[in-house]
Amino acid sequence: MSEQQYLPTPTDVGRFYDQMGPFFAILWGENIHYGYWHGPDDPSSDAEAQERLTDLMIDYTRLQAGQQLLDVGCGTGWPAIRLAQVTGGKVLGITISQTQVQQANERARNAHMNDQVQFQHADAMQLPFEANSFDAAWAFESIVHMPDRGQVLCEIARVLRPGGRLVLTDIVETTPMADEQRNFFLTSFMLNSLTTLEHYPHLIRQAGLDLEKLRDLKTNTQPTIARLNEALLHKAVAIRDQYGPELLAMMIQSLPVFAILQREHLSYIILVARKPVTFSA
Ligand SMILES: C[S@@+](CC[C@H](N)C(=O)[O-])C[C@H]1O[C@@H](n2cnc3c(N)ncnc32)[C@H](O)[C@@H]1O
Repeated sequence: MSEQQYLPTPTDVGRFYDQMGPFFAILWGENIHYGYWHGPDDPSSDAEAQERLTDLMIDYTRLQAGQQLLDVGCGTGWPAIRLAQVTGGKVLGITISQTQVQQANERARNAHMNDQVQFQHADAMQLPFEANSFDAAWAFESIVHMPDRGQVLCEIARVLRPGGRLVLTDIVETTPMADEQRNFFLTSFMLNSLTTLEHYPHLIRQAGLDLEKLRDLKTNTQPTIARLNEALLHKAVAIRDQYGPELLAMMIQSLPVFAILQREHLSYIILVARKPVTFSA
């Protein structure tokens, strides 16, 4: 795969979420991630399908009450709060967007969960935490924004305690797109690069982790972008009022293209990896 022309820095990604927060809130509500449908006839709403994917992530962490998980790229905090509610565990979430930090902490306070769940500004490329600090970690649709997957995985491996689990989702390229298509997709969502499912075992090994599970969720997540397009048409007035007619027109043109790219060239993976009890990176 050839390089894209413009690679967003973490600061660029933070600004993107500061600016585009209302866009995702209008179209998706509390979650900024794909949905999980049981199949093409599954009538679940976007919100139900998104919660189902969160539930799968929660299940895979096997977090116990009292244990602490690091949420790498926490968005506005809802998946972390749900994880803490379901498991009785604690969560420290980080995001590169200052606005999201405020929103996520406010959400935790409103849910009376702020003793269990906290959020702070940090860059996943250089986690500001001691080694062996967390019982588990997840990176829920965030690593695709980051400049170097290998570095982020090494950072997560460092801060996990021996035996701790990482659960991660990522958008992967299944058949190569034309460079212009890939650049269009990446720059539109401030993504850094795409990798492949086949490359993940190597990435995980390089970080010193043991791969436990790697699943291709293409069929289950397939409806996501087409549904996002439907939501956009439904909420067009709200998007226009927030961002103006140019951005609305650009999105109305782009989302059907993204839906085709998703169908023909992209997939979505979930994986579970574990830090060995005797760890050497
Ligand atoms: C697609 S959103 C997912 C949000 C959340 N996990 C969810 O599922 O709703 C991507 C998140 O990754 C965060 N992110 C991207 N790059 C980051 C970085 N270098 N360090 C920390 N967070 C980052 C963004 O700020 C955003 O919160």
